[in-house]
Amino acid sequence: MKSVFKISFILLIANLLLPFAAFADGDAASGEALFQKKCKICHTNEKGEKAKIGPNLYGVYERKSGHFEDYKYSKNMLDANLTWDDATLDAYLTKPKDVVPKGKMVFAGFKKEQDRQDIIAYLKSLHD
Ligand code: HEC
Repeated sequence: MKSVFKISFILLIANLLLPFAAFADGDAASGEALFQKKCKICHTNEKGEKAKIGPNLYGVYERKSGHFEDYKYSKNMLDANLTWDDATLDAYLTKPKDVVPKGKMVFAGFKKEQDRQDIIAYLKSLHD
């Protein structure tokens, strides 16, 4: 095979595989943009900031559900006893009311898996 063909063949394969690689891992930068658009009206994201309509989300990844101080959670969130990891966040951000029935978070949910992966990657980055 001539090297020019070899290179175009390799590029073709790389192009075919790239979307899958991106899909498996969330992109924190896109997640931040989504946060600004969809979450910031209700949530703060910096250390030490007070809760707004919802609790502050700094350090939420791997935190127990319902554990931001000085915030009045719904009863079901207090009883949920979850740890916010990839699986629980993915479910909650798909449809909050399926995970916490009668919860206080009025958010329809992300239909696209990629959006959820991106926002989770961003939430993961919010820690010391
Ligand atoms: C309309 C306001 C609103 C919007 C928009 C909103 N949230 Fe919430 N969120 C809340 C409220 C209120 C709660 C507390 C729920 C409860 O007590 O049942 C909450 C709780 C949470 C929790 C659980 C926190 C904990 O300490 O247990 C996470 C995680 C979360 N929201 C993530 C998000 C993300 C990510 C977005 C954007 C995609 C978002 N929320 C959009 C109001 C909102």
